[in-house]
Amino acid sequence: MTQRKGIILAGGSGTRLYPITQGISKQLMPIYDKPMVYYPLSVLMLTGIRDIAVITTPEDQDQFQRLLGDGSQWGISLTFIVQPRPEGLAQAYLLAERFLDGASSAMVLGDNIFFGHGLPDLLSAADSASEGGTVFGYRVNDPERYGVVEMDERGNVVDLIEKPKVPPSNHAVTGLYFLDGSAPERARTIDPSARGELEITTLLQTYLRDGALTVQRMGRGFAWLDTGTHGSLLDAGNFVRTLQSRQGMQTGCPEEIAYEKSWITADQLRRISERYKKSTYGKYLLSLID
Ligand code: DAU
Repeated sequence: MTQRKGIILAGGSGTRLYPITQGISKQLMPIYDKPMVYYPLSVLMLTGIRDIAVITTPEDQDQFQRLLGDGSQWGISLTFIVQPRPEGLAQAYLLAERFLDGASSAMVLGDNIFFGHGLPDLLSAADSASEGGTVFGYRVNDPERYGVVEMDERGNVVDLIEKPKVPPSNHAVTGLYFLDGSAPERARTIDPSARGELEITTLLQTYLRDGALTVQRMGRGFAWLDTGTHGSLLDAGNFVRTLQSRQGMQTGCPEEIAYEKSWITADQLRRISERYKKSTYGKYLLSLID
């Protein structure tokens, strides 16, 4: 089996955050003490994925490259792909088709933040399925803003609906998609929605129809945070700050994951922390070595 590859979809204009996202990509803005994109990147790294494509708008690509480099500082490999226009989440699989080269993938939206004690186990279970797809259902108060899971009385998933006016359940589909190597081929068969986008929900429906989709519950012990509005952006920052200062541990820290997985050495970690030594982030990195 070929190794699963990663995709971070960090395009789109983030217009709901205007004026602050004029001229800077939303995914590069801080969530407390690190750039937003570190959080989804950490999810892929926690899964054990080391070959990752970052999809951005043409204008933002150089900023992402400047921030993330080629990934070697974290023992991973980053490839940058441009999405000329935000024509839908499922388009990512067409843009990344050459990069994936038949491999299965885990795609995460650049503005999705996940936190939870059992996260590595959940990720590893999804990673171990070589065929079909796995997505995560998370209970929210405002399901009409998301892709929503429809279930029958026995709890079997019967449909997924994108932003339904009358949601059939409170279970939203999070922005983390583990799909097998057939995703690009399937993406080619779907039509754009009324809003002109290749919807991820339509792509997932093809898996569902084939009996090849697992919707895994992400229970109440997990946090899935949204950063789509000014308020939720601030809430996410406050959440990370509260958690980190209480625990004295980082969340969404690529250096820590890379070091724990032995993808980088103590010397490499020391060099990075040296560069950041004036910030609490740098001091934290140094403390990992001791
Ligand atoms: O967050 C989870 C939800 O994400 C899912 O429940 C929905 O099924 C899915 O459609 C998506 O809904 P959103 O309305 O949140 O998608 P949005 O258009 O806001 O895009 C999500 C992120 O992906 C955002 O950071 C911008 C980026 N994006 C979006 C599109 C449409 C791209 O990079 N390229 C795109 O073409």
